Amino acid sequence: MRVVSGIQPTGNLHLGNYLGAIRNWVRMQDEVGREGGQCLFFLADLHAISMPHDPAELSANTLGMVAALVACGIDPERSILFNQAQVPAHAELQWLLNGTARIGWLNRMTQFKDKSGKNREGASVALYTYPVLQAADVLLYQATHVPVGEDQKQHLELARDIAQKFNHDFGGGEEIFTLPEPIIPPESARIMSLRDGTAKMSKSDPSEMSRISLSDDADTMMRKVKKAKTDPEPLPSEPGGLEGRPEAVNLVSLYGALSGRSVQSVLDEFGGQGFGAFKPALGELLIETLGPITQRFTELKADREALDAILARGAAEAREIGRPTLNKAYRALGLVRG
Ligand code: TYM
Repeated sequence: MRVVSGIQPTGNLHLGNYLGAIRNWVRMQDEVGREGGQCLFFLADLHAISMPHDPAELSANTLGMVAALVACGIDPERSILFNQAQVPAHAELQWLLNGTARIGWLNRMTQFKDKSGKNREGASVALYTYPVLQAADVLLYQATHVPVGEDQKQHLELARDIAQKFNHDFGGGEEIFTLPEPIIPPESARIMSLRDGTAKMSKSDPSEMSRISLSDDADTMMRKVKKAKTDPEPLPSEPGGLEGRPEAVNLVSLYGALSGRSVQSVLDEFGGQGFGAFKPALGELLIETLGPITQRFTELKADREALDAILARGAAEAREIGRPTLNKAYRALGLVRG
């Protein structure tokens, strides 16, 4: 079992990242500890330059995200934690895979369509080839499992397609790359914005009120939950009664995901009550769950030296693990390297 996943160090870690991905990273770290195997988690700083960015902010956010991941429970003694920029094999393998990835495949990627919007011609080439780098990220380490939120599923399907075609075209009967399996939590695959139940909670939403961030204090969290968009109806007693009410679905699902309870069980308790009663209960639960993480995050963030050391050590280990696969890929393509 080789678990690999990444997060872009743009902005603060938010509740969607935590419930959609990072909580599963921590669970899988524990599972790997029991059953053998390895976890590699990285900051996708190379991906972050695909959108306009401020260099000083990117390096500060990279270190901030290390602190956030450790605060969430990623243990650098048990998992390999690093940033892509210190492992050149990610960019090298991307180039090698560019020969296999098809333009038609990339044209179908919905994230590129969303992020480039109406300005396709003005989007960076990096934004377009972004999913090939993501394929390199996991194939380099022969990942077997990739814990992500629902929005990354299409990118992982592409990684599997690239691996399959590369193995077929250049493997000579040998499997050069392992086909990775996405691990998506059913109860929190897609956490939605607090301002719009039809849009995903995202670091790029201009409104801070749309998301709960790990850097929010308890008062801010409660205020954001209380201000969350809702409808005037009370909560139903059955999940069917949530149909056509995206904001209500989102808040009830959040309560379920945070408490480990099903939607039905949450409605058994709150059915018939209005949001005036439900929102403070959700806010309390949120503060109870994220409070200790937020506190650790604030402490860790202050120790720049420790954060640099975690990344340097993780990167050295990642470089070692990735080397044989990268060499194999060069050789398979007939590229002569001394
Ligand atoms: P990123 O940085 O946007 O998000 C990190 C992780 O959080 C999940 N996520 C969500 N899950 C549920 N609800 C949400 N609202 C929500 N928002 C984000 C994402 O699915 C992701 O798992 N391209 C990736 C980073 C990446 C990567 C990789 C991931 C680069 N290389 C290789 C896995 C494997 C990204 O931008 O995630």
